[in-house]
Amino acid sequence: MYKNNKRSWAEPFKIKMVEPLFMTTIKDRLRYIEEAGYNTFLLRSKDVYIDLLTDSGTSAMSDRQWAGMMLGDEAYAGSENFYHFEAAVQKFYGYKHVIPTHQGRGAEHLLSRILIKKGDFIPGNMYFTTTRLHQELAGGTFVDVIIDEAHDPESEFKFKGNIDLQKLKDLIESKGADKIPYICVATTVNMAGGQPISLQNLKEVRQMADVYGIDIVHDMTRVAENAYMIQQHETGYEKKSVAEIVREICSLTDHATMSAKKDALVNIGGFLATNKDDVYTEASNWVVVYEGLHTYGGLAGRDMEAMAIGIAESVQDDHIRARIGQVHYLGQRLIDFNVPVVMPLGTHGIFLDAKRILPHVSQENYPAQTLAAELYLDSGVRSMERGIVSAGRNEVTGKHNYPKLELVRLTIPRRVYTQAHMDVVAESVQAVYENRAAVKGLEMVYEPKYLRFFQARFRKL
Ligand code: F0G
Repeated sequence: MYKNNKRSWAEPFKIKMVEPLFMTTIKDRLRYIEEAGYNTFLLRSKDVYIDLLTDSGTSAMSDRQWAGMMLGDEAYAGSENFYHFEAAVQKFYGYKHVIPTHQGRGAEHLLSRILIKKGDFIPGNMYFTTTRLHQELAGGTFVDVIIDEAHDPESEFKFKGNIDLQKLKDLIESKGADKIPYICVATTVNMAGGQPISLQNLKEVRQMADVYGIDIVHDMTRVAENAYMIQQHETGYEKKSVAEIVREICSLTDHATMSAKKDALVNIGGFLATNKDDVYTEASNWVVVYEGLHTYGGLAGRDMEAMAIGIAESVQDDHIRARIGQVHYLGQRLIDFNVPVVMPLGTHGIFLDAKRILPHVSQENYPAQTLAAELYLDSGVRSMERGIVSAGRNEVTGKHNYPKLELVRLTIPRRVYTQAHMDVVAESVQAVYENRAAVKGLEMVYEPKYLRFFQARFRKL
């Protein structure tokens, strides 16, 4: 009742069903991490206490989403749930056409195949692993045109997801607009630490794209989180709702790929959206080959129903404020412990700066991979490497890509863990940080050809 802006971000829900967690002993964990080749992707989930590997497909669905699952119309063609889902995409995101896919990379595959020709260049605000690989498999070369601040974990710039317009212009001028099938704009930028792009910047990118006649593809995996950061930090947007900002972001782009496993609060699902009829026609043909008919795209009817409801829930101000509030709560605890983290705090997780935490481990000995393994050993908390292992090798030279950022991501699933879980995580990170001097690096003993971070195996030095 009384006006007070200092109220906490408490969750706008209460818990109706619980899933037990199991603790392991240090003796168990020593064995499990060795058996997993020091790769947290290869651990069994039953051996993990608090799982911060990813926010992808790990969210808790609402009672309404679960109720929607019971309304699955499992017809092969023309499922009623598809039409609900299509209506949700049109209402909340404003794209004209939508094609469901089993997850984000399914949409990336289709769109890359349709838009990219061999020898093309695709500028983007930093790479994402699957996005870049699909661009490369289609014959293109990804070019990073994000602002320099994004590569500096200590820069406090609020919109580190912004595109450097000069870098973009130079690329277009040097390669020629006909060699640039589209500009890839991600909201938010995962690999930079969950950093948002501003609407001001996106409008400028749109203007430049129009001058050269180039399309914009929107990787809208975490668009609501980006919209919340705009509402909090961009002048002129303080009074706009997250839903309104999301619509405005989408309206500045031509096509979109979405992993609904993040923002949209489902355990599986994604889509490709486009405003262009010809791209839609081609995509609805290719989707039959790789995913399934254009009214299910590899999903069950019930999955599309849950996605339709999740999209509506994801843009509610209360939801997103609590979601990012929890992430920032963890971040602030780590800052209070003086642990080096990527600044400003991101939206889907907190990113530990492994280069500063383990300065004695050289990048060839995988500091972030090492740190993730140490954290698991300490407490059973599972995190993910986002450094040199994730960056892979240069297609042409075969050498490691050496990213400036060597990070461990503590990714927070939506609506899953409590504040007490965040405290346990912070205390474990602090313990590892205090004992960091004794930590030794790793060597890689098995390296898969594509997206090596998922399945690579390591040995302790
Ligand atoms: N784009 C972004 C920005 C992503 O973060 C992801 C997935 C994808 C595309 C691909 O979507 O997994 O549904 O095929 N990111 C997950 C993560 C895997 O853990 O960050 P997908």
